[in-house]
Parts: sequence; structure tokens; C-alpha cells
Amino acid sequence: VECVPDSHSASKQEHVHFDTGGLSRDSFPKGFVFGTSTAAYQVEGMARKEGRGPCMWDIFTKIPGFIADNSSGDVAVDQYNRYEHDVDIMQKLNFDAYRFSISWSRIFPNGAGEVNWKGVAYYHRLINYLHLKGITPYACLVHQDLPYELHKKYKGYLDRQIVKDYAHFADFCFKTFGDKVKNWFTFNEPRNTAVLGYDDGSFPPARCSKPYGDCSEGNSSTEPYIVTHNIILSHATAVQIYRQKYLATQKGRIGIILDFNWYEPLTDSVADNLAAQRARDFNVGWYLHPIVYGEYPKSMQENVGDRLPKFTELEVKMVKGSMDMVGINQYTGYYVKDDQKVPAVKSFQKDWKAEIVYERHKIPIGNLANSNWLYITPWAMYKVVTYIKEHYQNPTILISENGMDDAGNGTLPKALHDTTRIKYYTNYLQNLKKAIDHGAKVTGYLAWSLVDNFEWKAGYTSRFGIVYIDFKDLTRHPKMSAYWFRTLLTRKMP
Ligand code: NOJ
Repeated sequence: VECVPDSHSASKQEHVHFDTGGLSRDSFPKGFVFGTSTAAYQVEGMARKEGRGPCMWDIFTKIPGFIADNSSGDVAVDQYNRYEHDVDIMQKLNFDAYRFSISWSRIFPNGAGEVNWKGVAYYHRLINYLHLKGITPYACLVHQDLPYELHKKYKGYLDRQIVKDYAHFADFCFKTFGDKVKNWFTFNEPRNTAVLGYDDGSFPPARCSKPYGDCSEGNSSTEPYIVTHNIILSHATAVQIYRQKYLATQKGRIGIILDFNWYEPLTDSVADNLAAQRARDFNVGWYLHPIVYGEYPKSMQENVGDRLPKFTELEVKMVKGSMDMVGINQYTGYYVKDDQKVPAVKSFQKDWKAEIVYERHKIPIGNLANSNWLYITPWAMYKVVTYIKEHYQNPTILISENGMDDAGNGTLPKALHDTTRIKYYTNYLQNLKKAIDHGAKVTGYLAWSLVDNFEWKAGYTSRFGIVYIDFKDLTRHPKMSAYWFRTLLTRKMP
């Protein structure tokens, strides 16, 4: 029976039994893990306190106009001080896992060199408390928060030195936290680091973008490829270190998190089918192809030519097979059509020769959430998971993010009554189940996000949480969707 609570008061909703669309824990394989995700810069706060060095976002959020509401992650939701409360909420909602990220510049304020032991102590506290409450930690090493000092010193990901400094950071984390963390991710959505930071300009360092970035120096036809190449080498080096030095004793697993929004051909034409395939190659394939097969996708090699860096034989050996699992962030889907126009200026985005269109035969692809890129397309989940199963040797998959946002300025009662989000989660999970039933090896599902948080360029104008944050006093208010998860995840007595 679907129950819609008449009041937003948390105490009342807590006891409501929600309609879960026929889903329960039993709908998923044995041991399947449910959790939520966040990222250091988006939730921790204490950005310049307790010895933390600046990351790229600390610097760029201070440029007027760079963030929609001119806000920053200086305070965010203050999880640094309120983590116990947040973990208590996860436990109450019956979640099994929590994915967080470790702020590199909180551990190494300069990116390399001296360690900030206060930062180390924070992650020990967080991880210990998760264990105390029976929540499994999933740790990601970099979630868009490159230490600023490394950018200043040698332009960060554009320089091969990043591989060494990243490897040192990763090694330190495995050594320090690895007896308590068994699920590691090297990078979150590195494609966005490369494309938004070095082509489109909406993420730091906003190269090639006026007025925020370093336009005179940037080159969007080469830099995204160099950045990705260095990130893949950093990833593979960290995996090698984990396997050689820590695996035998720590017995964990390691992977990378990629964003994969589905690309569906606009028409049945061969040209549009090829365009959609190129779009997938230039997105998830850019990373997954080297990691599974040791080289970039053929369509990238053909369309990018000499601008695409190459792996040496030794590097191929290291990169190929460098994951135990892949994290997929799945939100939406798009229609794509062929576009063979020769651009006046070459750039990453133009190299795909494909154009994203938002409707097919005048039928919109789905309702828009608050973010202008997020169409509600539950079938995309099925397509993405099935595609990875079929094209990348049926790897172990974790859905490391899935969710939708609403506007930042909604009233509290309205925000708590988030029936669209409940429908979103129901339908995406139904599609995930279908893909699993058809043979995909998915071991878990993490919702984005536990709490409303700092949504990058959108600042606090976008709320992805299943828990509402009142940004005036940082109090937490579980939304209806949070209690929906609680019902979904209730363990039935045998
Ligand atoms: C992907 C990113 O990993 C996360 O940082 C972001 O907030 C969500 N998607 C929503 O846009």
C-alpha cells in the first residue's frame, strides 16, 4: 500500500511503509550492497582548517561568477564535524555501505611532501565510526579535488610528474587505512576532470574558457587527451602498488569510477548508430577500453589521430586488467545523431562527430530534473549496465552513483515530500534488477547522495540528497525518499 504521510515531520514518516514497486532486498543477488555516496569537497567543510591545503575548487570558487550562487565548499554540510550524526542516519535507514572520498590536500597539503596528521586522524575517526555502526566504507582517492599546489608547481594532470605524486598519495592511503578499507577507487569521473577542466571550462582549471580560465595557454584539442592519459597511468600505477604491496595482507579490491550516461541513436540509420557508438567510446570507452583491452577505442584512434597519446608496451601491460571492479555513475540518457561537419577549430567535443539531441521524433527523452543535463530515463540504467557487460567482458560492476536533484530554493515541506525522487529510484532500480537478471555482475548500488551538498558549478542551488540540509543551521531532515529506502532495505525476519 502506498502511504503518503500528511506531515513532513521525520518522526511520522519514519513509521510509514512505502510502496517499493515490488522491490526488496530479495530482488537482488545475495550479498548485494546498498549505500549512499558523497565526496570530500562537497560535504566535509573545514576547507582551510585543521591543516588542510587548498584544492583546485578552493581557489576557483573564489572567482566571482564561477559558481551559480557564488558559494563554496568552505563549510558545505560540515561532515568533518558531524560525521557521527550522518553515519547514524545511514544506519537508521538500513544502509550497508558508505562511499566517501579522501581529500588529497587534507592528507598532503602541498600534494606531496609533508603529511597533515590531523587530516589522517579525521579519516580514521570516520572509518572507525562506520565500522562501529556496521556500515562498510568504500573510499575514493580523488573526487575532482586535485591539490592546488600541484597545479601551481607543474600544471597538475598535464605533467607526467602527477603519476608519481598520485602514486605516493595512494600508497600512503593503502598503508594507513587499508586494514579497515577493503573497497578502493582511484578516481571519480576522471572524464569530467579532463573535459570540463580542459575543454568546456566549467571545472577548474577552466583552461580554454573565458573569462575564468587560462585561455591563452589552453588547447582543447590536445589537453583533455593528455590529462586522461596521465590519469589512466596514475590509476594503473596505484592499482599495481595495491596489488604488489598490500593485496596479500589487506585482501581488498580496487577499481575506478566512470560516469556513463547512455547514448541512444536518434534514428535507426547506420550513421546515427555509429555516432552513438562513437559517443560511448569517447565517454566510458576512453577509460574502460584501455583498462580492459590495453588501448584506446578504435574510433578514438581514427578520429583523434596523432593528438591521442599512446601507451608504451610496458604501460599497456600495467594498464590492461588494472581493475577488480568498475564503479558506474548512472543518471541519464541522450539521443545522438551523426554530425560530420568539419569544425573551424578542433576540440575534444568536436572529435566525436556526433551531436547530442534531446528528443526523438519530437518526443522528449524524459522529464528534466533540476539540473539541465539530467533527464529522467530509467531505461538508460538497463542499457548502460548491459552494454558494459557485453562490451567489456562482463566485469564486476558497482553502481557508485544514481540520483536526481531538485531546486535549492524549495520550501522544507515541499522538499521533504519528494515523490518524483521516489519514482526515479524505483524505476532505475527496476531497470538495474532487469540487467542483473539478464546476467550482469552488479555487486551493489549507491545513491547520490546521502545529503544535499555543494553541487560544483550549481553550488547549493541543486539538491541531490535523500536527506535535506537546512543550510541556515546545517540540521539534517530525511526526505520521504530516505524513508522509502528504509522500507526497501528492511530485513524481513525469516
Ligand atoms: C557526479 C559526481 O561524481 C558528483 O560529484 C556530482 O555531485 C553528481 N554526479 C551530481 O551531479
